[in-house]
Amino acid sequence: MSTLKDKIDFNRLPQHIAVIMDGNGRWAKEKGKMRIFGHQNGVAAVRAVSEACAELGVKYLTLYAFSTENWNRSKIEVDALMTLLSKTIAEEVKTLNDNNIRLNAIGDLQRLPKSNYDALMKAIEDTKDNDRMTLTLCLSYSGRWEIAQAAKAVAEKVKSGELEIEQIDEKCFSNFLNTKDMPDPELLVRTSGEERISNFLLWQLAYSEFYFTDKFWPDFGKEDLYESIVDYQSRERRFGKTSEQLTEKK
Ligand code: IPE
Ligand code: IPE
Ligand code: MG
Repeated sequence: MSTLKDKIDFNRLPQHIAVIMDGNGRWAKEKGKMRIFGHQNGVAAVRAVSEACAELGVKYLTLYAFSTENWNRSKIEVDALMTLLSKTIAEEVKTLNDNNIRLNAIGDLQRLPKSNYDALMKAIEDTKDNDRMTLTLCLSYSGRWEIAQAAKAVAEKVKSGELEIEQIDEKCFSNFLNTKDMPDPELLVRTSGEERISNFLLWQLAYSEFYFTDKFWPDFGKEDLYESIVDYQSRERRFGKTSEQLTEKK
């Protein structure tokens, strides 16, 4: 029996997949439950997608877990999300190590409660030698925040004389972003039917392929991930060229 996984061309696997994990609240509401119940059930999807990516050979998986704007939610929801984050990190470190996955986090991490920050740093330290895949959690993250802090860091280097204005180009600027050691995502997945970026990797998504699904995040599983990759592989990535140019023999 042929499955979706069999349709994946392993020679053209995305190296980096970014995911906007959306729809936890609506998933819970449909079931007559509190929003946090949705977040709790979203953890299983994180596990499934991380495992699927690692098994396939995807090198980078970046998950949007908490945006700068999410600080504006009710204190009850924010506190519950932070508690869930600490609990999940503590529970998953062993699995990450068993699967040779390195944990990473980007965003304005100083804004996290100290206990979360400390747990996160410890998990990052404990998994730093793993090299099968890098799993990046975006926490207290927004694309505009990241670009603004990069601009500030560039300005400081210029001011101190370590960098000449003439040296600033796209490549140089990228090195001041939180994602400096990663390739740009070839594929962006967003669940829940919303079709927007919501301040996610604004710089890095410049040429990514977008895949939207109506499924809420807690219902997203391995098969859904395979489907998004198969869809991605059906696209022609032209990077400004014409289709004819791409198929021309070199
Ligand atoms: C995504 O689900 C998780 C976070 C933003 C933390 P939501 O909480 O946004 O769920 P919906 O979009 O309200 O259904
Ligand atoms: C985006 O989801 C942020 C995360 C998934 C962490 P939101 O639910 O916060 O996005 P908007 O506000 O609906 O655009
Ligand atoms: Mg949402």
